[in-house]
Amino acid sequence: MSDDLPPDATGPRFYGRRHGRRLRAGRARLLETLLPALSVGIPAAGGDLDLPPLFPRPMAGYALEIGFGAGEHLAWQARANPDIGFLGCEPFVNGITTLLAEVETHGLDNIRIFPDDARLILPALPTAGMGRCFILFPDPWPKRRHRDRRIVNPSVLDEIARILADGGALRLASDHPVMVDGMLMHGRAHPAFVWEAERAADWRQRPADWPPTRYEAKALHGRPVFLTFRRIVRQQG
Ligand SMILES: C[S@@+](CC[C@H](N)C(=O)[O-])C[C@H]1O[C@@H](n2cnc3c(N)ncnc32)[C@H](O)[C@@H]1O
Repeated sequence: MSDDLPPDATGPRFYGRRHGRRLRAGRARLLETLLPALSVGIPAAGGDLDLPPLFPRPMAGYALEIGFGAGEHLAWQARANPDIGFLGCEPFVNGITTLLAEVETHGLDNIRIFPDDARLILPALPTAGMGRCFILFPDPWPKRRHRDRRIVNPSVLDEIARILADGGALRLASDHPVMVDGMLMHGRAHPAFVWEAERAADWRQRPADWPPTRYEAKALHGRPVFLTFRRIVRQQG
């Protein structure tokens, strides 16, 4: 992250954990050797992050995952879509090292990592540059006084609407009723998105190209809900 800007003290505050259990030697090694090669920084000179040079070969498109946790969904998508360049954002170091191990094991060359709060890099992502954005089982912050901490909020949706290409998909999942309500309320109210679900199966069943994540498996709060919002086509002029 040579051209990184230092964390901005006036930027958004991250309330989650950045570190968990002490890393095993192999994972610590990956953090030192592989992460620097895959890590993406915010352009120090300002302006948009140029996506194509981040990858070793031309990509047919790009996708973003916010809060990838241990990265099993991101790694699955990267393997299933080898010509899409994936950018994953996650500040939790232990989760990052789990993804790094997957990248190494499977030789994935289409994953790049922003190892910090996604809200810091969203403004630097190019307009209409992403075909898909995933936010799966985000921290629900169910208490009313913590609602400002929820990642699915109008200002983040504004940024996602900007970076998604016309017709691009925003995939959201949660098993917490408060978070599901918020996702539906903010997603449906947003002028750039339509929720295309027509029947209960459309949100109760995970689509085939949507592998389960660790948090889905934990089923901490109840039955999971899978929401796909489509970015509407921009008006010309
Ligand atoms: C409940 S976990 C879910 C992880 C994973 N998506 C899954 O389904 O297993 C939420 C994750 O989002 C990450 N997270 C929270 N706020 C974030 C932010 N502002 N930017 C990026 N990641 C964030 C947390 O560190 C955590 O790993």
